[in-house]
Amino acid sequence: MKNDFSLISPIEIHFGEGTIKEVKGILKNQKRRNVCLISDPIVRKLGLLNELEEMIRAEGAGLTVLDEVEPEPSVIVAQKLLDKIRRQSFDLVIGVGGGSALDISKAIAVLATHEGGISDYLNLTGTKKLSNKGLTKVMIPTTAGTGAEVTDIAVFSTGDSKDVMTDKHLLADYVIVDPALTYSLPKRVTAAGAVDAFTHAIESFTSKHSNPLTDIFSKDAMWRINNWIRVAVWNGEHKEARRQLSLGSLEAGISFYNAGVAGVHALAYPLGGQFKVSHGESNAVLLPYVYAKIWPSCISQLVEVSRIIGTHHEDRSNRDNARYVVAELFNLVSDLDLPTKLSDYGISKGDLDQLTDNALKQVRLLGRSPMNLSRQDIYEIYLNAFEGNLKF
Ligand SMILES: NC(=O)c1ccc[n+]([C@@H]2O[C@H](COP(=O)([O-])OP(=O)(O)OC[C@H]3O[C@@H](n4cnc5c(N)ncnc54)[C@H](O)[C@@H]3O)[C@@H](O)[C@H]2O)c1
Ligand SMILES: [Fe+2]
Repeated sequence: MKNDFSLISPIEIHFGEGTIKEVKGILKNQKRRNVCLISDPIVRKLGLLNELEEMIRAEGAGLTVLDEVEPEPSVIVAQKLLDKIRRQSFDLVIGVGGGSALDISKAIAVLATHEGGISDYLNLTGTKKLSNKGLTKVMIPTTAGTGAEVTDIAVFSTGDSKDVMTDKHLLADYVIVDPALTYSLPKRVTAAGAVDAFTHAIESFTSKHSNPLTDIFSKDAMWRINNWIRVAVWNGEHKEARRQLSLGSLEAGISFYNAGVAGVHALAYPLGGQFKVSHGESNAVLLPYVYAKIWPSCISQLVEVSRIIGTHHEDRSNRDNARYVVAELFNLVSDLDLPTKLSDYGISKGDLDQLTDNALKQVRLLGRSPMNLSRQDIYEIYLNAFEGNLKF
């Protein structure tokens, strides 16, 4: 860790059941109020936009709803929505949904006032830079996991992998985390999202770019998520568990936006791109295997994690306490009934070389790993995850 550091987050964050009503105050503060509400068809069908639509209309603001977002959105779908938003003159974009809807919302709200398409601004292939923050952005998550509401990142599927737009101009102006919007999440999406959030917390805690402030958020997020994840997954009606996961996800989002995620996400991206495994599940299936490889490089942090998640024993060596964390990560994924090996996703041994090549392209993410991961290391992690062989 360097001596100097910064912590960046959206200025206005509202948390709690019913905070969706904050939209009224936000609209009152805006001079021009032509609103574009962006979401996906499932969220709309579940009725999660109803109250919001009523509020916006009651405030006398203009409203257009675009609900074409797909899960793990492709550049093509994002571009279509960008073309639509450019045809009208909106002042405000409200994104409501999981990370997929929020990422598209952030990207197109900014690109509405720029030249060029989504692919021109992507990290790996783009050439253009953002010059202004675009339309006012309000982000309202309906999943507990990605933390996309508080990051300046927008992730898109590119075919064989994923690529991101990342720039401070993507940061939301207002964030509303209302846990009541997550009550309808199915068990598997709850589990995958919660493990994604836990992964954000542990990867930022062991990141080369962590700092004392991100550590506070990471540790609290790990504690909270670990305490409540099984309850929320096994009893989706448990409102307190839902609240704790939403808060843990928010904390983990602030933390990873500043300290960064690393190897787990780098190896997970190609699973999403090539095999359409959801973001949360891609991380979950790899989490134990990545730490099974890198634990010797972050023993002191993992000893702290062992205290947070309750596996610590004074009479064990530090190395053993760190290794027990790896075992516990596997238990967690397995307890939640999520797949624990790559072969469960129809991935074959012959695919591992290409997955490795694609993971190696995620230089930004791999650069924060406490252990430098060579091609051979990455291949071995995929192979162990393929065979379900947790050697450490
Ligand atoms: N920007 C970031 O910082 C960041 C971080 C991590 C992940 N991501 C990206 O976020 C995307 C994944 O987001 P996600 O995991 O939130 O999933 P998602 O947005 O793809 O949603 C998953 C599914 O859950 C449904 N859903 C959403 N809310 C619901 C609710 N309340 N009740 C019932 N169903 C609901 C959606 O319709 C969808 O079918 C990926 O593209 C990933 O790469 C972004
Ligand atoms: Fe993630």
